[in-house]
Amino acid sequence: PTDAAILDIIAQTQSREGPLLPMLHDLQGTFGYVPQAAVPLLAQTLNISAAEVHGVLSFYHDFKGAPAGRHVIKICRAEACQAVGANDLAEATLAKLGLQWHGTTANGSVTIEPVYCLGLCACGPAAMVDGKVIGRVDTGRMAQILEEVDV
Ligand code: FES
Repeated sequence: PTDAAILDIIAQTQSREGPLLPMLHDLQGTFGYVPQAAVPLLAQTLNISAAEVHGVLSFYHDFKGAPAGRHVIKICRAEACQAVGANDLAEATLAKLGLQWHGTTANGSVTIEPVYCLGLCACGPAAMVDGKVIGRVDTGRMAQILEEVDV
């Protein structure tokens, strides 16, 4: 392809999606999530479709569509933790909360997120509770954690 053809594509992409990510980051930074009402407003402002905005939002799991819970629990889903029972822990925790990944309890107490390695591979299953890393989390320890965060 010619340079002009390549530049053409770059220019298109740039004008279409360039400002969207920083705008989404700013919205989330301000409100803690990206309000639904922002989708049509962003689409209109950037002259793109609402579906494109949704596409970007769902591609990046870091963007939240609703406010996060008062506590955020992350369970490691990477290999070393999986080898020592992280999958069972995750399943049991999600079942207990009645949530899917990224979900928040109805009373707003907890949001549950997957995470891929917390650097605590030697003492898995690892979890993070409000930014604090915890090792050897079995279902008993998790029950205790959930009690502490008021589930
Ligand atoms: Fe879980 Fe590294 S694999 S902390």
